[in-house]
Amino acid sequence: MTPDVARPIPPTLDVHLSGTELATALERDARAGLLASPKQLPPVYFYDDRGSRLFDEITRLPEYYPTRSERWILDAHAKDMALLSGADTLIELGAGTCEKSRVLLDAMQAVGLLSRYVPLDVSDTVLWEAATTLAEEYPGLAVHAVVGDFHRHLDQLPPGGRRLIAFLGGTIGNLGPAQRRRFLVDLDCTMDAEDRFLVGTDLVKDRDRLVRAYDDDAGVTAEFNKNVLSVLNRELGADFDPDRFDHVAVWNEEAQRIEMWLRSNAEQSIRVEGLDLDLVFGEGEAMLTEISTKFTPEGLAAELAECGFVVDAMWPSPGDDFLMTLCHPYC
Ligand code: SAH
Ligand code: TRP
Repeated sequence: MTPDVARPIPPTLDVHLSGTELATALERDARAGLLASPKQLPPVYFYDDRGSRLFDEITRLPEYYPTRSERWILDAHAKDMALLSGADTLIELGAGTCEKSRVLLDAMQAVGLLSRYVPLDVSDTVLWEAATTLAEEYPGLAVHAVVGDFHRHLDQLPPGGRRLIAFLGGTIGNLGPAQRRRFLVDLDCTMDAEDRFLVGTDLVKDRDRLVRAYDDDAGVTAEFNKNVLSVLNRELGADFDPDRFDHVAVWNEEAQRIEMWLRSNAEQSIRVEGLDLDLVFGEGEAMLTEISTKFTPEGLAAELAECGFVVDAMWPSPGDDFLMTLCHPYC
């Protein structure tokens, strides 16, 4: 008799965001952002193949504590998360390389519930690589990868089962206040009463540590920030010279967030052929490329409540560096 062992199930891929749609969105966002004052770009365009790999390098930098802190919480409490959620499906928004997901998957498997993993990301190559690896590592697990935008495709997430929707890495802090609320309300509306939302948020702390986490000595974050210029050059036929911009990370006390800028180190003209646009950057003129909002547990709980969530549990990392929160829709 053949032993009853689970076999790897080939992963599936849903594409809600085609290359053409992404290109159209980039044209629209780049035109609006480059004509705004100050100039700015939405962060989603950081994550082409090279950007995703650079981000993965960031997560291992000595200065970048959020990944290690979040992993510490997961190592300590993933089992509680699995038990409290009672979920058989793990959905992960902005999954990237799915590195930390394994801790949750292992915990869900250990409590005997795991059947499906649904990573969603805009970065299709990295997503597919991760999905393929995970399907092999977890025989019997149905891996259903989704190429999509978490601002637009939450209603396309596969239904069924009890779902734990994870949003890790402090990515929620990369959304502005209005966009964040809209995201939370939209998510709340797509969730069933039994579903749970698990969100990782970085916490307010010493300014210098925060700035260093976004301006490392090895210059990887600077490379990552400047990579968005290479994306514009390639996708829109622009002629940015990354060497003529400096990476700047500053703490905005009023908005309680780190801001990443690219500051022109000379007066220069840029041609963006694909948009038929000529731009001038003054010397020292800076373009906003990313925000990373930092929270307090009380502020986050209040915001979740305003957006229709009830908090089940909060787990801080040692020293209150980072926080993971499990919550569910108030129905
Ligand atoms: N979850 C991982 C990666 C965080 S980096 C971690 O915790 O380390 C943010 C991830 O979100 C990247 O993989 C990026 O490609 C993805 N992302 C950014 N904006 C997105 C959007 N609008 N929709 C879907 N994915 C997005
Ligand atoms: N979600 C990550 C964060 O806010 C994203 C990030 C880390 C990032 N380092 C960055 C984005 C540098 C842009 C530039 O911590």
